[in-house]
Amino acid sequence: MAPRSSTRRTSVRFSFWPTSSAGARVFESGLGSGALTAALVRAVGPTGRVTGYEIRQDFAERAQRNVEGFLGPDLPLEVEVRDCYEGIGVDDLDRVLLDLPEPWRVVGHAEQSLHPGGILLSYLPTIGQVTRLREALEESAFGMADTVEVLQRHWHVEGTSVRPDHRMVAHTGFLTHARLLGGAARGPGDGTLSES
Ligand SMILES: C[S@@+](CC[C@H](N)C(=O)[O-])C[C@H]1O[C@@H](n2cnc3c(N)ncnc32)[C@H](O)[C@@H]1O
Repeated sequence: MAPRSSTRRTSVRFSFWPTSSAGARVFESGLGSGALTAALVRAVGPTGRVTGYEIRQDFAERAQRNVEGFLGPDLPLEVEVRDCYEGIGVDDLDRVLLDLPEPWRVVGHAEQSLHPGGILLSYLPTIGQVTRLREALEESAFGMADTVEVLQRHWHVEGTSVRPDHRMVAHTGFLTHARLLGGAARGPGDGTLSES
């Protein structure tokens, strides 16, 4: 089984790809350790905003503590103990990031909360979950859906012996993203579409 820390690191690293830039308004759920939250808060900067819902109070408190321990106080971050399957309740979002077991239950809420052109991004470990998410996206106002598998292949580099490592953490998860269609699309911060 892949070490959990490696999975989390990969989720953080790759979640930046079509996600968050300075000034973006981002929704994230769930928070877990807050590792991804910290990366997002740093990416959006003081002109952006990260709203995070975590269903477990102990995890929410730990995530907030970890983020503040890493980045300091007075951050553009709001953490709430809430079930995001019940709704998001925040409008005009640029990004919705989901790292939880049933993201298809959030697709309808994300339709209401993202502005046109906004992006939903989900990190999932198994392809069965991806299939359910893609089906929900197919029946929604999202388009341009895409799924990539995250693979890490470390290399052994020693003199003339340059080859992939014999042992490695290979599969770590699938990233699925889709853009909300309809209306006049715009990007985070400065009104231009960026990435993906
Ligand atoms: C895989 S962890 C997230 C890890 C996180 N991205 C990190 O960087 O550490 C999944 C989290 O989702 C939370 N969760 C599960 N279902 C939820 C829901 N319906 N609403 C809010 N949080 C939920 C869990 O309590 C757990 O903390």
